[in-house]
Amino acid sequence: MFLLRNLCILKDIKELKKILGVFKMELSNRIKRLRTSPVRKLVTYSEAATKAGKKLYYLNIGQPDIETPKVFFEAIANYREPVLKYAHSAGLKELREGIQKYYERKDMNYLLDEILIVNGGSEALQFVLMSVCDEDDEILIAEPYYANYNSFFDTLKIKLNAVRTYAESGFHLPSLEEMEAKITKKTKAIMLSNPGNPTGVVYTKDEMERIAILAKKYNLYIISDEVYREFVYGDNKAISFGTYKDLEQNVIIIDSISKRYSACGARVGCVISKNKEFMKVIYKLCQSRLSVPTLEMVGATALYALPDDYLEKAKFEYGKRRNVIFQELSKMEGVTTREPEGAFYAVVKLPIKSAEEFVIWLLTDFDIDGESITLTPVEGFYSTPGVGLDEVRISYAIKEEDLIKAMKILREGLIKYRNR
Ligand SMILES: Cc1ncc(COP(=O)(O)O)c(C=O)c1O
Repeated sequence: MFLLRNLCILKDIKELKKILGVFKMELSNRIKRLRTSPVRKLVTYSEAATKAGKKLYYLNIGQPDIETPKVFFEAIANYREPVLKYAHSAGLKELREGIQKYYERKDMNYLLDEILIVNGGSEALQFVLMSVCDEDDEILIAEPYYANYNSFFDTLKIKLNAVRTYAESGFHLPSLEEMEAKITKKTKAIMLSNPGNPTGVVYTKDEMERIAILAKKYNLYIISDEVYREFVYGDNKAISFGTYKDLEQNVIIIDSISKRYSACGARVGCVISKNKEFMKVIYKLCQSRLSVPTLEMVGATALYALPDDYLEKAKFEYGKRRNVIFQELSKMEGVTTREPEGAFYAVVKLPIKSAEEFVIWLLTDFDIDGESITLTPVEGFYSTPGVGLDEVRISYAIKEEDLIKAMKILREGLIKYRNR
């Protein structure tokens, strides 16, 4: 009887708590830690501007406008299997063979089980970081870095030891000593994007050597994001960490067809490593998400069969665009920039206090004959708070004639904004 009465009271307390809202539905702390992407942050303003009839030139996103090669669509159209089955979790064999040959042409030899197909470079990054880092482990990285890395760092609770790089020195790496000073017992990996997003930097042999020395000395993984490998200009050369024979056990390459073949929507990328232990664990993640879309892999296989002159042409096109923006930016008073070396981005220091405010102003208060531009403030690409406030990233993945117009808008916009 006594027990029954107490149980009833307990039930009432639960009811009471329910009424008072003590049992709340709560989202995870993991997701609450996630920062907003600086590229997406200003979308509301650009949407409002287009809704109001403004024509915008999008210098804020890395979406190439070069046509996806027709072979991609043709291969998919010719697919004749009666059932669209799950593909192998490691990816289609034909695609892995195509990637293997592509790497062979670059003097890097990989076995098929050293190549795993994933849903874009993005899934590659997520799976690699999940496989390499525990909570509170640390990554050494140069800032500014590709801001989407933050979503993986934040959700996986990975700490960053960022070495600062500067517009004035073209965002090249600091000295070995400065980098080494950032390494702690918790450091698991050095991560880089080379050629770099957002900076357009291409690391020299000497800089690569600095990373190699540290990785060897402290037994660190090198997570080498090489999705822009083809896009290097002038005398610059993108050296792949895949060519470092003595680092075979450290190196993990992130790759993707998104930029190489203008196929961002296909969501096909790969993770490459000769480290068997790593490949074994990351493969478990691939198995748990079953497979990458079969048709997209069929299309990607056709892309890897293209002759290399396709890539030469794409590089030539981006090279022309890079020249346009560099020439135009060099003429703008107070603007600090160095000749972009690779990828299709440049980070530019503007003679203003707040790049974010300026970017919003361009969308809300400025136009030339009904046209304006969108840029990305770079602040969110740094992990150190309060730096990069006067910097914007310019993406030159749009047509040359549009870039010329966009640069005029930037030049005149800057003058008007500073004279307000
Ligand atoms: C440096 C870098 N890595 C990885 C990615 C992810 O590419 P995707 O997931 O489209 O393959 C991007 C996309 O912009 C990038 O700039």
